Amino acid sequence: MTLTVKAPNFEVLRADFPILETVVRGKQLAYLDNAATSQKPQLVIDALDRYWRAQNANVHRGVHYLSQIATSEFDAARVKVQTLLNAASSKEVIFTRGCSESINLVATCLTSGASAKATNGQKTTPCIAEGDEILISTMEHHSNIVPWQMAAERVGATLKVIPISDAGEIDLEAYAGLLSEKTKLVGIVHVSNSLGTVNPIKQMVEMAHAVGALVLVDGAQAGPHLSIDVQDLDADFYTLSCHKIYAPTGVGVLYGKRALLEAMPPYQGGGDMIRTVSFERTTYAELPAKYEAGTPNVAGVIGLGAAIDYLAHLGRWYVGPEKPDMTDREALVVAFGAIHRREAELANEASRLLLEIPGVQINGSAPDKAGIVSFTLDCAHPHDIGTILDSDGIAIRAGHHCCMPLMNRLGVPATARASFAFYNTMNEAERLASGVRKIKEMFS
Ligand code: ALA
Repeated sequence: MTLTVKAPNFEVLRADFPILETVVRGKQLAYLDNAATSQKPQLVIDALDRYWRAQNANVHRGVHYLSQIATSEFDAARVKVQTLLNAASSKEVIFTRGCSESINLVATCLTSGASAKATNGQKTTPCIAEGDEILISTMEHHSNIVPWQMAAERVGATLKVIPISDAGEIDLEAYAGLLSEKTKLVGIVHVSNSLGTVNPIKQMVEMAHAVGALVLVDGAQAGPHLSIDVQDLDADFYTLSCHKIYAPTGVGVLYGKRALLEAMPPYQGGGDMIRTVSFERTTYAELPAKYEAGTPNVAGVIGLGAAIDYLAHLGRWYVGPEKPDMTDREALVVAFGAIHRREAELANEASRLLLEIPGVQINGSAPDKAGIVSFTLDCAHPHDIGTILDSDGIAIRAGHHCCMPLMNRLGVPATARASFAFYNTMNEAERLASGVRKIKEMFS
């Protein structure tokens, strides 16, 4: 670990990520696909190794030594996520398989309450029913589109779409016009994976609450870049994709306000989510177990805890020894402030250099962006750009980025996307631009 170095020089942190040393076809890897998944620090790799070597057991089920260790590490990770999100209680943190599952959970549970409403005529649980409206935006990725389409279809609700400007920002006037007392839920991405736009979530939540709608914020791309405070945002639900936050794959988080999670019906049935079971009737466990049926991804959750520890270390490293009694929350806020600034520097430099190349167009020019640069080149398909850059050791993503409706709005079949993490370098931004310049020359 290099976190004892007191200097805001992010490049020294590369040493914490062993995979960044990879050589691809004779060239040093430039990993610019962090929006798809981020790389893992040694601290996380060590936590996983330790778990499999010395802690592996099922959680919440055993009285034996290993089970107690695994349970205590697992439960500690939940408290770390509470700190990461500034949630009021760790009971509001539900572990899932990923951001998609978190959104599916809410969409399913909010629409399975509809039958209760229809049969007893009272709204005993928060629910979306026939005639209600769900609002999402044009810039959502499929994970925050399809579950709502399925939910709307199930109960006869209507899905409406908030338009965006050419710069890739939410059209707030149109949003205000679409909100009505029929709106039961707004599903909105915090940071767009294709445009990088950071949406004005606090304002959008306020506007939704004014008409009585709930808000689910898809934080898949915000988690790695921004300090999130669910209480300040007043989000009803907030979802995370943990492999994008330097943690292992297969773990997601659903934050939900306690009263809502308590009122909603369970999602999946199985072990751990019950209080009592008989063939006549089952009663359900308290939060968070109510939404965590079956054996969870224990190793992944413990790895997530280590990733949050790493970020807190990063905040302390950034500040230096002047504030020895900094809380973990304060350290995380510092870390994300620094990460956001560093990634913006890298992305701005990449955009500036790319725009010097004739025929390059950047998709998404909102003033507030996370470290994502989506672009097209007039003479080459994004897949060709991705393949040719790969031959230079530069990893980007090319395609529709799971945002087909957004690609239609942009009028392109696909884009090339470079997405930065704090461990990237200016040299990598320069290599990206010079690689694209070579492609321009080759195809012209
Ligand atoms: N949603 C992820 C991305 O944007 C996979 O690449």
